[in-house]
Amino acid sequence: MTTDPAPTPALGIDVLSIFPEYFTGPLDASLLGKARARGHLRVDVHDLRGWSVDRHRTVDAEPYGGGAGMVMRPEPFVHAVEDLYGTLADRPRTVLLTPRGRRLDQALVAELAREPELLVLCGRYEGIDERVHQLLAHDEVSLGDYVLAGGEVAACVLIEAVSRLVPGVVGNVDSVAAESFAGGLLEHPHYTRPPTFRGLTVPAVLRSGDHGAVAAWRRAQSQARTRAVRPDLVDEDAGDDGSQELPPR
Ligand code: ADE
Repeated sequence: MTTDPAPTPALGIDVLSIFPEYFTGPLDASLLGKARARGHLRVDVHDLRGWSVDRHRTVDAEPYGGGAGMVMRPEPFVHAVEDLYGTLADRPRTVLLTPRGRRLDQALVAELAREPELLVLCGRYEGIDERVHQLLAHDEVSLGDYVLAGGEVAACVLIEAVSRLVPGVVGNVDSVAAESFAGGLLEHPHYTRPPTFRGLTVPAVLRSGDHGAVAAWRRAQSQARTRAVRPDLVDEDAGDDGSQELPPR
């Protein structure tokens, strides 16, 4: 009996971090673990200390001009990229996670998911030497307006969001197409069995079998929820042309 050869991964991601162990849980469990095992996705996390500047495995130094904290030196990042790709010019699209970056949203996630390869750089300490930003980062990306202890958690978020859009990673393509943000709106409520629980009953329309009515109810729920919770997402000019409507299931 022959078995199918593993597919060539549709997306390969290399990560540079001084805490590679941060990634073991998120990358090995659940959806990402399965996608990697099945060969749909490649993620390799590299320990930046492998390119440290001395035998004490140093990757940081005091800031020029003074100030609190330490700054990550440029050499480990640049030497790692040269070892992994040959030259800096041959590196794939490179994302540096930093609170000063562009806010991650589903549009950027979708854009990154179309790349064949990504390089993800994680910083720690007070920051990364500016020359790393200049020499390596195609994109500077932030999770939001708050400061984490480093880029590792942000990198996990980015990798999970991007990987879900890679063909073969999520089995049910419809669920990706209909979820929050895919149509520019937040998702409608979901219900399953039992029909009544703790006095709360599933809306009758969902059990009516009328697909048109179900789609209309979900669309209205999405719009109402978005307007209430995230008015910034509502495009008042979208009008009735359906440009912000979720695709019917
Ligand atoms: N590193 C520290 N804070 C961060 C944030 N908010 N987003 C991305 N990377 C970060």
